[in-house]
Amino acid sequence: MAKLRLGVLASGRGSNLQAIIDNIEAGKLDAEVAVVISDKPAAYALERARNHGIPDKYINPGEFPGKAEYEKSIVECLKENRVELVVLAGYMRLVGKVLLEAYTNRIMNIHPALLPSFPGTHGQRDAVEYGVRFSGCTVHFVDSGMDTGPIILQAVVPVMQDDDEDTLAARILQEEHKVYSQAIQLCAEGKLTLEGRKVRIGG
Ligand code: GRF
Repeated sequence: MAKLRLGVLASGRGSNLQAIIDNIEAGKLDAEVAVVISDKPAAYALERARNHGIPDKYINPGEFPGKAEYEKSIVECLKENRVELVVLAGYMRLVGKVLLEAYTNRIMNIHPALLPSFPGTHGQRDAVEYGVRFSGCTVHFVDSGMDTGPIILQAVVPVMQDDDEDTLAARILQEEHKVYSQAIQLCAEGKLTLEGRKVRIGG
């Protein structure tokens, strides 16, 4: 059976990308990373792609008059590489209309908190500061909001008394590396169905 073709968008170090690549190489994930795209030329995610012979592309948002044109260029690259599922892995931009319309309900994101709590760029810090006893991570489909799309999977970790943003982030990251591949595998197996804003997982 043909493998699900992934297009990974990443702005930074790319540890989630690495976990996905490792799970594919270990035979635990029936997918293929078709291309890695970054909005940052120095993103280590691009180097991780090259290390594994995966096509990589830096697309400079500054080269375009606006978000729509920038995203058109992303969509072109995704289509050229026959991407079926877009995977945001530390992509630090809000997805706009052009990308959303090209890949409606075919874009996933991972967020380092138990949504709908603590959306935004400081999920781990916000959880520590609020004093919750548990936090975790959420894999969700992407819609036009900030971390608001239908939830696919979540994993929970305890928050310890002495945690700071970094210690909690490290504990959550271990779970991210497992749960993101699990969600992608469910998609590869055709087991995810959207019912309104609920995701049904089934055979
Ligand atoms: C992760 O914490 C992820 O949840 C968030 O951005 C971070 C990306 O880390 N969306 P990495 O680049 O995958 O290491």
